[in-house]
Amino acid sequence: MAGGLALAALPSRAELAPAGQKGEPAKKGEKAQAKPEKGKAQQAVNAAAASAAGAPPAKVVALGRPALPEEIAAWDIDVRPDGLGLPEGKGSVKEGEEAFLEQCAVCHGEFGEGAGRWPVLAGGAGTLKSERPEKTIGSFWPDASTAFDYIHRAMPFGNGQSLTADQTYAIVAYLLNLNDIVKDDFVLSKENFTKIVLPNRPNFFDDDREMAEKVFWNPNPCMKNCTGEVKVISHARILDVTPDGEQKGNLE
Ligand code: HEC
Repeated sequence: MAGGLALAALPSRAELAPAGQKGEPAKKGEKAQAKPEKGKAQQAVNAAAASAAGAPPAKVVALGRPALPEEIAAWDIDVRPDGLGLPEGKGSVKEGEEAFLEQCAVCHGEFGEGAGRWPVLAGGAGTLKSERPEKTIGSFWPDASTAFDYIHRAMPFGNGQSLTADQTYAIVAYLLNLNDIVKDDFVLSKENFTKIVLPNRPNFFDDDREMAEKVFWNPNPCMKNCTGEVKVISHARILDVTPDGEQKGNLE
């Protein structure tokens, strides 16, 4: 399960579910506390959660029920840069173009150039250091998995998670093509997905403060009266950045 790391210490659902109950919600009038297995299961959850947080075990509250496999599957849709979480499937640039024109172009433009003020999805190469950088999947994003995850999760705007896996592969292929990353006849699939390297990938790196900023760290930081005398050396009014009462120009 992608993104399931934090749950590793918890007992599995099979251990939690009382025998024969198959995860059904407690029937009306049934007292959850009266079921020894359920109480035990809840204790196990609480104990695991508490030990994870380093706190003493909390008392049993007997709220809710273990999540069903279908519920977990519906929630567990994240796709990681290493490909974990990608569904089976594939789609071509050509198929992606059709789907994109039908479902996305109205907002993002036929070539991802953005209609009106909707986000631009293609282009912008070489603009990152300019005064007005254009951050797109091609110019800025580090990983194609983010495009897959986000598009499948959230687009088309207002109808998220309506695209099939194949449609999502195809649309991502089309967007990669618009960004000059793959050729016109490319077919993107679960198998070749992690071979895609976005141009700006090398400019992303892991937090290196422990190395790069170590020189600034002081083992005995000042905690009291740390600044010297504070002197006002200029005023916004003198620098002429504060508008004074009278408006110049026609505001009507
Ligand atoms: C009704 C207009 C609309 C439609 C249709 C639409 N989108 Fe979007 N899209 C948006 C908006 C608005 C955002 C920004 C959302 C936000 O930032 O929360 C967005 C953001 C995005 C982004 C992220 C852009 C970025 O750089 O942050 C991608 C990728 C994207 N859409 C792809 C698609 C795809 C693919 C489709 C078709 C399946 C689609 N969109 C359909 C409105 C739309």
